[in-house]
Amino acid sequence: MDKILIHGGQPLSGSIKISGSKNSALPILAATLLTREPCVIHRVPDLSDTNYMLQILMHLGAEVERASGTVTIKAEKVNSVAPYEVVRKMRASVCVLGPLLGRCKEATVSLPGGCVIGDRPIDLHLKGFESLGAAVRVENGNVKVFAPKLTGAIANMCGKFGPTVLGTDNVMMAAVLAKGVTVIEGAAAEPEVCDLANFLNKMGASIEGAGSRRIIIEGVKELHGAEHDIIPDRIETGTFMVAGAICGKGVTLNRVQPEHVSSVATALSESGFNIESTSSSITVSPNGAVLRPLELTTEPYPGFPTDMQAQMCALLSTTEGKSVITESVFPQRYMHVAELKRMGAHMQIEGASAIIQGVERLLGAPVMASDLRASAALVLAGLKADGVTEVRRVYHIDRGYEHLDEKLRELGAHIERVKE
Ligand code: EPZ
Repeated sequence: MDKILIHGGQPLSGSIKISGSKNSALPILAATLLTREPCVIHRVPDLSDTNYMLQILMHLGAEVERASGTVTIKAEKVNSVAPYEVVRKMRASVCVLGPLLGRCKEATVSLPGGCVIGDRPIDLHLKGFESLGAAVRVENGNVKVFAPKLTGAIANMCGKFGPTVLGTDNVMMAAVLAKGVTVIEGAAAEPEVCDLANFLNKMGASIEGAGSRRIIIEGVKELHGAEHDIIPDRIETGTFMVAGAICGKGVTLNRVQPEHVSSVATALSESGFNIESTSSSITVSPNGAVLRPLELTTEPYPGFPTDMQAQMCALLSTTEGKSVITESVFPQRYMHVAELKRMGAHMQIEGASAIIQGVERLLGAPVMASDLRASAALVLAGLKADGVTEVRRVYHIDRGYEHLDEKLRELGAHIERVKE
């Protein structure tokens, strides 16, 4: 296993290119199961999660070719069973259920486990499939869905913690080949849902309203192959925006869609950072003003993203004054707090909120990554801390950040990846 060593205190400057979105690539790769024809997907990030998804597609019978960021997938024949040993590594494997149900009218996928950010139920996914006429059975750790035919219906994708992103994706992918019209109420409006809908429409689907809370899908007979560019990763963009804030003299991120990170830009601007953007880049720089603490609540898009909560905890841990971050999506998503406290941060959890008292400086320490975004937060804190921070279990980072340490080195960070 590798670990990352960061010698803190180096100011960052310059520019880097942001990779394609992990959370858009995963459902779009799964959607290629809906046609026998080849699909060509560009800007697929080289991550363990996207590689897991490609392994699952191959296990299901698809032919997969990869040439750097471009992946060609041809699912001429598909079997409908994704067993535990194939899907156990990644919860997002659940998004093959919808396309398998749409294509094969049945699917058996091992149930996703929970994870450190909280219980990850899929009840809304399954209710959505039942709305379309599928029978759902959960047995021996597998979920089985079966539908002699799928009929358009109204499906609600909003639970007590808001809309479900992958649930919206799954029902959309099951509905595109159903007979009649499906209306998804309470749909997730994340850019990744829009990207999937755009790809499905290129394949011949008829989807309107993606990006709003109501998506209307008119079922078609079959879908054909298509070519698509994955949108930029807005969470990687936000993570590097925080890197530019935490110790930057002016950091520019290229190949981004600034409108996808407007809630992060607003938060950083309110705290006192300069944010400048063009149609495809965003620059974060200090403006010399005293930084202000923040009160933030994570919300479904276009609100402040839960996937940026840990990174903001790292930034606000050295912002003078009292900040409060509240999780409305994953109330337990605070595994990073104990590790940040090992570096000298003053914060405690009260219910679903982190109460942060900014300190003058953090001290480098050996810390343990626990999940993808918590790991990123520890790296960001290490950039700021005095001395050396050692982040272990960096396989968490490899799930969702393409060449994170290389990109930070390009910006001037003193960071290296070594064998444990
Ligand atoms: C997606 O997960 C993202 N993953 C997550 O990013 C992200 O944190 C999450 O959306 C919220 O934005 C991918 O896109 C691969 P949800 P997803 O279903 O779809 C509850 C990262 O770091 N819920 O939108 O699995 C659920 O417990 C990852 O890149 C139900 O109650 O999340 C949560 O509280 C982490 N029943 C809320 O809804 C369900 O059937 C939102 O979850 C489904 C979800």
